[in-house]
Formats: sequence, structure tokens, C-alpha cells
Amino acid sequence: MPTQQTIHEMAALDLAELIGHYALDDRTVPHLRLNFVSSLDGAATLDGRSGGLGNEQDQRVMNALRTFSDVVLVGAGTVRAEGYGGLDLGHDSVRWRVENGLPAEPVFAIVSGHLDLDPESGPFVDPPVRPLIFTHDGAPAHRRRALSRVADVITCGTNTVDLRQMRAELNARALPQVLCEGGPSLLGSMLEADVVDELCLSLGATMVGGESRRIAVSDHETVRHMRFAGVLRADDMLLLRYLRR
Ligand SMILES: NC(=O)c1ccc[n+]([C@@H]2O[C@H](COP(=O)([O-])OP(=O)(O)OC[C@H]3O[C@@H](n4cnc5c(N)ncnc54)[C@H](OP(=O)(O)O)[C@@H]3O)[C@@H](O)[C@H]2O)c1
Repeated sequence: MPTQQTIHEMAALDLAELIGHYALDDRTVPHLRLNFVSSLDGAATLDGRSGGLGNEQDQRVMNALRTFSDVVLVGAGTVRAEGYGGLDLGHDSVRWRVENGLPAEPVFAIVSGHLDLDPESGPFVDPPVRPLIFTHDGAPAHRRRALSRVADVITCGTNTVDLRQMRAELNARALPQVLCEGGPSLLGSMLEADVVDELCLSLGATMVGGESRRIAVSDHETVRHMRFAGVLRADDMLLLRYLRR
């Protein structure tokens, strides 16, 4: 007889319970977690953005994941496509962080080689914490200078951002808990560098067809084995959690 697992409805969980579902016991152990949303047929975008694939409940999960993270990390492509502004955690999350000995807000960090980012745009306007930008030696000097006025620009690698070195930098800055919110190119690079510890995937109950990309793209296939670590349900959406095997 197959055993049936009860899948908890996440709407019943409050912020602390959601955090309890995802957080690790020892937050000093470096951990890189990814959070993505996908349609049932594997699309990572709808009309060029991810928002239309999710719902209010998966936004709550994203907020809970941000709440206990030290860093929220994204690729420059996602910043350009989604127009990232402030993280806007909300009162309950800020209170949870402060009560648990964390700074009020996580650090926002971007991975970019070309540094084609507007220093006067969302993430750099009145941030609660100075953002980080990870780049490489070949980045254009004039853009590096412009962005250095609004962020710490950190060089990791020669022609590409060395993501292992980036993680070492984050650890050295006492920022071990990393939440990466995409996008597909950055996840592809991360799989190649073998730095992914966890994937949280919100599987929406839609199929979209079209030519949208998957949540990971890279030049080479790279197999990384994961193990199932949990699932919640939000109406028809499944919130899946997988850890590095
Ligand atoms: N479904 C989801 O959950 C989800 C999540 C996030 C984003 N998205 C969607 O995905 C799309 C954006 O994805 P994307 O793949 O174009 O962008 P992305 O992965 O967010 O960012 C790609 C960029 O990051 C930089 N980058 C990544 N790895 C690097 C490395 N190892 N070395 C140097 N630079 C590196 C490069 O920046 P430079 O070009 O500046 O050199 C690269 O062009 C948007 O449509 C967004 O809405 C979906």
C-alpha cells in the first residue's frame, strides 16, 4: 500500500511557523538557498517576469525566507527585468529579525559582469543597508566607479564572477545565510560552480506554453542531485523544498 503524506496548507501557518519550516538549526553554517517559481509546464516567466506565475501565498514564503536570511542575492538580469526596489520586509518580519538578534534588514546583493545598473535606480535609493555588487576584473571601470558611490563593489574572478569566491567573501563578512532569488542564468552559473545547497520551488497550477525559459540555463548540462525536504500547499500551488544530497 502506498503511504500518504499529509500536505499542510500553508495559509494556516503564521510567519514564525513558516520560518520554522525552512530555517536551519545552526545558522552559522554557510547555506545558499534558491527560491524560484515555475509554471506546471516549466516556464520561469510569464510576459517576461515571474510575478504572474505566483500568488499571494508564495509571496509570503518569499518574505519568510528573506526574514531569516543575511543576504538577498540576485543576478543583474533579474534586477533589470523586475525593477527590484527595496526588500520591504514588513513590520512583523523586521520585529522577528530584531527579536532574534539579526539586523533589521538583510543585505541586498547583485551579481553582474557588465555592471549595466543604474546607480539611481531602486536598490540603490535610500537602502537600509549598503548593497553589495559582485563583479570581476573585466568589468567596465567607469561603471565600477559610478556604482562604488552607492554600493560595495567586490571583485571575485577574472572574466566571470567566481561564485565560490563570492560565497567565501560573504562568509568573511559574517553573512552565511544567502537567499538567491534568481534568475535562470545565475542559477545555471551556480549549478556549474556547485554552490547550491537548497532549492525552494513554488510550482504554480498554470501551464503557459510559449518560449519562456526554465529556472536554470547554462551552456553545459550539469547534474546536481537533490533530496526531497518538504512540501506545503497554497491552494493549488505546491511549495517544494529540496536540499543538496
Ligand atoms: N521564475 C522565477 O522564480 C524567476 C526568478 C528570477 C528571475 N526570473 C526571470 O528571469 C529573467 C531574468 O533572468 P536572466 O537569466 O536574464 O538573469 P539573471 O540570472 O537574473 O542575471 C543574469 C546576469 O547576472 C550576471 N551573472 C550571473 N552569473 C554570473 C557570473 N558567474 N559571472 C558574471 N556575471 C554573472 C550577468 O550580469 P551582467 O549581464 O550584468 O554581466 C548576467 O547577465 C527575468 O525575466 C526574470 O523575471 C524568474
